[in-house]
Amino acid sequence: MLYDQVVEATQAIQQHTEVKPALAIILGSGLGDLANEIRDAVAIPYSEIPHFAQSTVVGHAGRLLIGTLSGVPVVAMQGRFHFYEGHPVHLTTLPVRVMRLLGAETLIVSNAAGGVNPAYLPGHFMLLRDHIYMPGLAGGSPLVGPHDERLGERFPAVGKAYDAELRALAHEVADRYPEITLHEGVYTMVAGPSYETPAELAFLRTIGTDAVGMSTAPEVVVARQVGMRVLGISLITNSATGSEAAEVNHAEVLSTADAVRTKFANLVMGIVERIGAQ
Ligand code: HPA
Repeated sequence: MLYDQVVEATQAIQQHTEVKPALAIILGSGLGDLANEIRDAVAIPYSEIPHFAQSTVVGHAGRLLIGTLSGVPVVAMQGRFHFYEGHPVHLTTLPVRVMRLLGAETLIVSNAAGGVNPAYLPGHFMLLRDHIYMPGLAGGSPLVGPHDERLGERFPAVGKAYDAELRALAHEVADRYPEITLHEGVYTMVAGPSYETPAELAFLRTIGTDAVGMSTAPEVVVARQVGMRVLGISLITNSATGSEAAEVNHAEVLSTADAVRTKFANLVMGIVERIGAQ
C-alpha cells in the first residue's frame, strides 16, 4: 500500500534527525546549489530511503537534506523524480507525501522551464499562478488508482493550488533585488523527454501557456491532496516560442540555471525568511 510506503520512508528519515521541518523545497534542474545554504544539514541519499526512486538525470543530485534555511527548519529535495525517467507517476510524487508526514505544511517547488511567452526570457523567473497538466488531463495523474482515505481526498480541488498570499510575498522579496525579473504565469507540464516541436509550442501558447517544463504539476496535485500551501517558481532557461534559430539542449538549460544560482538562492531564502516570520 502506498500509505505504508510513505510511513516507512518517513520513519527511516526520522532515524537520521530530530528536526521537524515546517517547509519543503524541491530544487529543480541546476538549482540544487541552494542546498549549500542549508545549515546543520543532514543529507540522506535517496538510495538509503525505502521506496524512493533514484534520480537519473545529469544536473540532479539525488538526496534529501534536512536542516535550517533562513532560520526555518526545512526538508529539501536536491534532485527530483520525473515521469520520463520511467518511474510510475505515483512514485515520482511519493517524496511530497513523505515531506508532509515529516511535518512540512508548505511546499516551495522549483523547476527549469522554457519561455513560451515571448516576454519571458532566459534568466527570468516566473511564479506559477496556475498550471495545465497535460499528462494529468489524459489519465497520467498520480492520484489515479484505488483510493486510500489516509492519503487525502478522492477528488481534491486544485483551482487555488498556487497560494496567492505566498505569491504576493515572493513579489515583495523580488522587488528588493533589481537584477531579478519575476513574472507570473501558467506552467504547462509535458511528459518529455524530447523538447517540443514548433507546432507543439504554437499549440501550447494558444491554450494559455507561459512556460513549459517536464515536472512540478504532479507534485503540486499531491501537495494539494495532502493539504500543503504551494509556491511554484520556474526559472526560464531558454526561449520556447517555436521561432528559435537554434534548438534547445539540456546543457543550455543547465548553464542558464548555473548563471542565476545566486539570484535564485537570494529569492528563495528571502521567501523562506518571510514565511518563517508569519
Ligand atoms: N521544454 C520543456 N522542458 C524544459 C524546457 C523546454 O523548453 N526548458 C527546460 N525544461
